[in-house]
Amino acid sequence: MTKVLMVCLGNICRSPLAEGILKAKGFAQGIEVDSAGTAGYHIGKAPDKRSIAVGEKYGINIAHQQCRKFVVEDYDAFDYIYVMDNSNYNDVISLARNESDKLKVSLILNQVFPGENLDVPDPYYGGQHGFETVFKMLDQACDVIVKKLT
Ligand code: 4NP
Repeated sequence: MTKVLMVCLGNICRSPLAEGILKAKGFAQGIEVDSAGTAGYHIGKAPDKRSIAVGEKYGINIAHQQCRKFVVEDYDAFDYIYVMDNSNYNDVISLARNESDKLKVSLILNQVFPGENLDVPDPYYGGQHGFETVFKMLDQACDVIVKKLT
């Protein structure tokens, strides 16, 4: 069983969608997925309603998810940690205890555009359109991840 953790800042917009999309695509292959945020602003809350809405539009239900914060033990529990942007990358790497922890962490869009270190833009302060863009980016990245892990 391969375990994947999706990480963003708040764990209410981008990483819950990444979790839902990869769960849907990797379910049959036994890929286990969770998500977390580097900040604790929204612990215990459901995803942002705009993320829930764009997920629903494409048949992905994320309404039941609950926000949690990234913890150092996640390095033991997961095989791959995909972060949404460079700031998340720096925050997660700063908690790594050794080289093996660091090797688990990568920018999710590097799956689609290797070596380009592109960010999935934070849609929190924008409108629904930003969530649509985020969904499409994550959908593409999750296709690559499923191919790679199976
Ligand atoms: P996320 O978006 O990292 O994709 O979940 C954000 C959610 C909340 C905040 C920032 C980004 N916030 O500042 O509360």
